[in-house]
Formats: sequence, structure tokens, C-alpha cells
Amino acid sequence: MQHYDYADSVGTAAPEPLFASIADDILQRGYCIMPNALPMALTSRLTEYAHNAVGFDPAGIGRNRQYQQNEFVRTDEICWIQGTSAVTAAWLNWMDCLKVYLNSRLFLGLFSYESHFAHYPPGSFYKRHFDAFQGQSNRILSTVLYLNPEWGHEDGGELVIYSPQNQSESVNVTPLAGTLAVFLSEEFPHEVLPAKRDRFSIAGWFRVNDSTTQRVNPPN
Ligand code: OGA
Ligand code: MN
Repeated sequence: MQHYDYADSVGTAAPEPLFASIADDILQRGYCIMPNALPMALTSRLTEYAHNAVGFDPAGIGRNRQYQQNEFVRTDEICWIQGTSAVTAAWLNWMDCLKVYLNSRLFLGLFSYESHFAHYPPGSFYKRHFDAFQGQSNRILSTVLYLNPEWGHEDGGELVIYSPQNQSESVNVTPLAGTLAVFLSEEFPHEVLPAKRDRFSIAGWFRVNDSTTQRVNPPN
């Protein structure tokens, strides 16, 4: 059993300047692409974990009763993160720090965070989609962390984020280990181009609490 301490990987350096620049980008453009966002030790532990220790299931679309597998839209496989291992707990802790920071700067009222590992075997893709539709979801902010130590343009599998105003404008994100993409869930259509190699990532969503009952939303 390996022990992992988040504090060891960051030393004394507080991630505030990094969080500040993520917040600035979201404020100015609605999205942020941040290479080497996480402490290197945490990225490599997560990478090792995703490549070796995760049991993946075919991904579906929608939730609960609307859940369905649709191989036309997406062909990746996923594993929800519960934070039961030291490394996934460190991941959730890092994202919780980001949540607290973004709430203090942007007043988004982010309440919870859910995330899953994703594995795109060679040839797999995720067609253009929104992560949330206005008024129909409590997903506010999408995040994707990449876990591929080496990745070239010829490997495909780029994330394409389209401009909300002009669908012919887009940015391509190389899924290189340590890069974190963050974008407003209802604003940006996006897609994953077919990957030529095994492609690993963690996709996640910050949500607001939209419960109308006494109970708060469960994490997934
Ligand atoms: C998603 C998604 C993007 C990526 O899981 O909803 O858009 O680059 N993932 O893995
Ligand atoms: Mn998506």
C-alpha cells in the first residue's frame, strides 16, 4: 500500500497564483487551458492510477432513467471517482481548493464536484456536445485533466472547444499530462477527436445545489 500526502507534493508553495489565473481566464473568456496545472507528483500518481488500477465501464449519456449507451455519440469508458484511495482523495482535495477559490473570486456558488476517469481506446471519440443545457442541469463548470505523459499531434484525440458565438472558431487542446481545461458547461460545445492511442483523462463538473427538498444533492 503506497502512502501519498498531497502536502508533500506542493511543498510550501500555495497554488493561489495558479487559481487566480484560472479565475481570470474564466472571467474574461469563459474557459481556461492550463498546462502543468497540478503538482507534478500528483499528476504522475493519477496517471499511474488511471493506467493500472481503474476498472472502466462503457460510458453512457444522461443520468438515471435517461441513462443510455450510445456508440454514435461517445465510445469512451469511464470510472467515477469516490476518493477512496489516497491519490484520488488528493485529487478531490485539490479540486475542492479550486472550488473554494473560484467561489471567493467569481461568486459562482459552486457546491459540489463530481468526476470520473475516462479511457478512450484507439479509434474512440466523443462527438460534439454540451455538458449542460440551460435550466436543465446543475452543472456549471466543466473540467478535464489529461493523463497522457507523451502525446503528439499525430496521436489525434484533441479536445476541440467551439466558440459559443461562432461555431467555425475553436481551440484545440492537446491531451498532455498535467494540462487542465476548465470551461462554462452551458456555453461551450466541445468534442473529442478520434484518438489513435489509448487516451486517459479525468472529466469533472462543479455543480450548484439546486435541491428543492431538505436533502442536498448526492455527489453523483
Ligand atoms: C466529457 C468530455 C473531454 C475530454 O467527458 O464530457 O467532454 O477531452 N471530455 O476528455
Ligand atoms: Mn463534455
